[in-house]
This record gives sequence, C-alpha cells and structure tokens, in this order.
Amino acid sequence: MSKNPHIGIVIGSTRQGRFSERAAAWFQKIAARRADLSVEVIDLRDYPMPFFDEPASPAWMPPKAQAAKRWAAKLGELDGIVFVTPEYNHGYSAVLKNALDYAYQAYNRKPAAFVGYGGVGAARAIEQLRMVAVELQMAPIPKSVNIGMAEFFGIWQQGKDFSDFPHLEQAAVALLDDLSWWSRTLQSGRQTAAELASVD
Ligand SMILES: Cc1cc2nc3c(=O)[nH]c(=O)nc-3n(C[C@H](O)[C@H](O)[C@H](O)COP(=O)(O)O)c2cc1C
Repeated sequence: MSKNPHIGIVIGSTRQGRFSERAAAWFQKIAARRADLSVEVIDLRDYPMPFFDEPASPAWMPPKAQAAKRWAAKLGELDGIVFVTPEYNHGYSAVLKNALDYAYQAYNRKPAAFVGYGGVGAARAIEQLRMVAVELQMAPIPKSVNIGMAEFFGIWQQGKDFSDFPHLEQAAVALLDDLSWWSRTLQSGRQTAAELASVD
C-alpha cells in the first residue's frame, strides 16, 4: 500500500494581521490527529513570488523566478491541497491567484479543498477557486469549511475560539474524510500512470 497522502494547508493571505494563519493552524490541529493523512502548513510568505512575470505559462515552460521553483518543488511533495482563503471583494486574494498561476504540473491530478472565512464563509471566493482548480487539472472537493460572519467576528474580534463553534470542526472532519479518499485515489492513479508511462 502507498504511504499516507501528504496534504499541504496553504495560508491564503500574506498581509500583516491576517486571520488566515489562525484558521490554518486550527485546521492543521484537526488534520494532524488523523492516522490516514500527513499534513503541513505552507505559508506563502515563504515563497515571495513576484507578480507573474514569465515568458509563458508554467504549463509550457518552467518559471525562472527562484521562489517559484521552490514553490513548484514544494507542491510536488503534496498529494492534496487545502487552500485557506479570505474573501476580498467577493473574490479570493491576489497572492493566492499568483501562487496558482506560478505552477502547473505540480497541481495536476490532485484534490483541492477549501476553508474560507468572512461574511458568507468566503463561499464566493471558494466557487471561483474551484473553477481555477479545474483548469489546473485539480479535483475540487464539493465539501468546504465556511467560517461565517458570526463565527469569524466572534473569533477575530470578540475573544471567542474555534471550539465555541463545534459545527466548524464537524465540517472540517467531513472535509478531511473526503480529502482522504480523493488524495489516496488520485495518488494511486498518478502512480499507475507513471508506471504505464515507464513501460512505453
Ligand atoms: C480589500 C478587502 C476586501 C474585502 N472584501 C470582503 C468580501 O468581499 N467579503 C468578506 O466576507 N470580507 C471581505 N473583507 C474582509 C475580510 O474578510 C477580512 O479582512 C479578513 O480578515 C481577510 O482575511 P485575512 O485577514 O486572512 O487577510 C475584505 C477585506 C479587504 C482587505
């Protein structure tokens, strides 16, 4: 049997004072309890890619920017990605779009899952991310964790904790259950494809 799928939890905001890292840390704690997955938090601040400035899409030509090379190498270690996303003007963050644009093959045939927070739990941002994920040949998971208005403001500004809202953990566990299936299934599919390609 293959090793446990390795899941990256990407902090989708790099601004000072971001909520994203709190949501990522909370989700990571829940995911780390599982025996069927391994997880790590990935901070886009550690991959300071310039605004996309390459001669072609990474689908056709590997990027020259050093941070982008490191980013693709990190993505290459992953069997699935959880994007922890804010909602900015009903979309997702520019820094996250830049990170999505800066790699291609390393995203292909891997599941994408979403944890969002904001007025409507970043539902609009997540829908947009799902469309982009499809173009990156990812498999976006229908379940998501939506940290809505009351929970978001409660935790962010009113001294509450994630544990004050048990439905959030329930949603996280349900998401991880699906992510486990998809990451294992696609891991196996990628492996089979690589084996078939090597005998051609
Ligand atoms: C430019 C901008 C636009 C925003 N637009 C929305 C929005 O459309 N929907 C929403 O729920 N929150 C919106 N917000 C509030 C964010 O949910 C809040 O600032 C959140 O903390 C951003 O995530 P971050 O702290 O991880 O960067 C916006 C914030 C900014 C800075």
